[in-house]
Amino acid sequence: MNNIILKTVQELSEWRLNNQKNISFVPTMGNLHLGHKELIREAKKSNENLILLSIFINPLQFNNKEDLINYPRTINKDIDLAFSAGADAIFIPYEHEIFPKNEKEIKYQKASEDLSKTLCGIYRKGHFDGVCTVVYRLIDIIKPEVIFLGEKDWQQILIIKEMVAKQNIKIEIKSINTQRDIDGVPFSSRNNLLLKSDREKLKLFSSELLHNKQIFNQTKYIDLKKIIKKLTDKDIKIEYLEHVNAFNLKRSTSEMNITMLAGAIICGNTRLIDHVFLMRRDPIIAIDGPAGSGKSTVTKLIAKNLKFIFLDTGAMYRALSWYLLKEKINYENRNELKTFLSNVSIIFKSVEGSKQNVIINNHNVTEKIRTQEISSIVSSIASIKEVREFLVKEQRKIGASGGIVAEGRDIGSKVFPNAELKIFLTATINERAKRRKNELEAMGNGTIDFDKLKNEIEQRDFDDSNRKISPLIKAEDAIEIISDGYTIDQVVEKILGIYFETIPKELLLKNK
Ligand code: CDP
Repeated sequence: MNNIILKTVQELSEWRLNNQKNISFVPTMGNLHLGHKELIREAKKSNENLILLSIFINPLQFNNKEDLINYPRTINKDIDLAFSAGADAIFIPYEHEIFPKNEKEIKYQKASEDLSKTLCGIYRKGHFDGVCTVVYRLIDIIKPEVIFLGEKDWQQILIIKEMVAKQNIKIEIKSINTQRDIDGVPFSSRNNLLLKSDREKLKLFSSELLHNKQIFNQTKYIDLKKIIKKLTDKDIKIEYLEHVNAFNLKRSTSEMNITMLAGAIICGNTRLIDHVFLMRRDPIIAIDGPAGSGKSTVTKLIAKNLKFIFLDTGAMYRALSWYLLKEKINYENRNELKTFLSNVSIIFKSVEGSKQNVIINNHNVTEKIRTQEISSIVSSIASIKEVREFLVKEQRKIGASGGIVAEGRDIGSKVFPNAELKIFLTATINERAKRRKNELEAMGNGTIDFDKLKNEIEQRDFDDSNRKISPLIKAEDAIEIISDGYTIDQVVEKILGIYFETIPKELLLKNK
């Protein structure tokens, strides 16, 4: 394909019409560097889409006129770099194309207040509103399927994600980790404005952040005051330095898992930002939902893909129900139940493939807990306070250092409320009963009566959703997936996609 340069909305629309392919969009303000090159490379890797890169210096996002005037402009070099990196077309619109004089065409956007009232938002009034307005406008004109953004501007990514969700825009947002030069400094167009001595300061700042990340990995602690003093002593002008939650940008507390140490410094007339991501434990994925929604199969495959522990909490409730029946424990007698629980141990043992055996006090109950007898009593046993307290404690022990995909009814709401990703997986009752019937029959249970099974599942859904303690509910921050009409692989791919776009790449890459 020829290298295409588009300058007007009209040209862009015609190009879109002539190429009926999906678009991966890389928005930039030009002065392209290796960070942009990596974005294009990433966009190229992921699919068959055409890659459209835009170069537009958005006046709305400059709160400082001088910064706008001085912003480096290197259009010819940019065109060469973009095409050689694999862009199919470059959109270099005139300002009046993006912001026509007829103001009615411009839908001014307001950035999320919560996300923009901190970090850079404090010092760059209106900046994120300007970013949102131009991104909204560009998406509206281009209608891309995917947009690629760099995690160096993490606050910007969070704000754009929020806008896209709020405006219900159908677009995938993909990102790459901060790309650094050999001296540790993140690539940035503004680096071109630095004197040699400024670059040295930026280098000190970035190395200090990277160094503190290493310290954090050992101590799980960030001493902000100490870092600020150290940098100030080296004559570095700090605009801000904060340790915040990586998703809501609220000040970090010891309960938060993924956080960021982020700052801005001023070198001469130039403002530069950098950050590192910090993580106390590996991520946790919580998958909740009603019976037969495909949780177990999906959870197992996700755990295998990520090399995470797979935790089937339902199997624990089932195993305990089996054991209570076997030992003929009168669980209505809470003292008898408590004594009994203090001697129970449930463990999972991996066997070939991705299979796990469930062992309760040396009894291998893997198959025995799947009978309809157990299915019919498990919900009432799972509603007992002492049983839940006991099993939730066990589950938290298993997940203490993260790296786990847990499935159940109360994982996102109760067991791991700080899970990085919460999925509520469901399907219509008919679909779920159909799946469970096939599953049970494949296990050699003879022909299963569909209506009876459907009633049993409905009853269990009702009992699970209406019990007093930790009922089955969709956690507030869970993403609901209705799996009717999707194959297992499609659901797995969807959840993995959400996971990879939630966790900063810098943290994902550490495990590679
Ligand atoms: O496999 P299926 O979806 O039928 O159920 P399961 O995951 O094996 O769970 C069996 C039962 O255990 C559920 O119906 C709930 O009553 C209970 N359970 C729970 O209360 N909390 C959990 N986290 C997991 C299961």
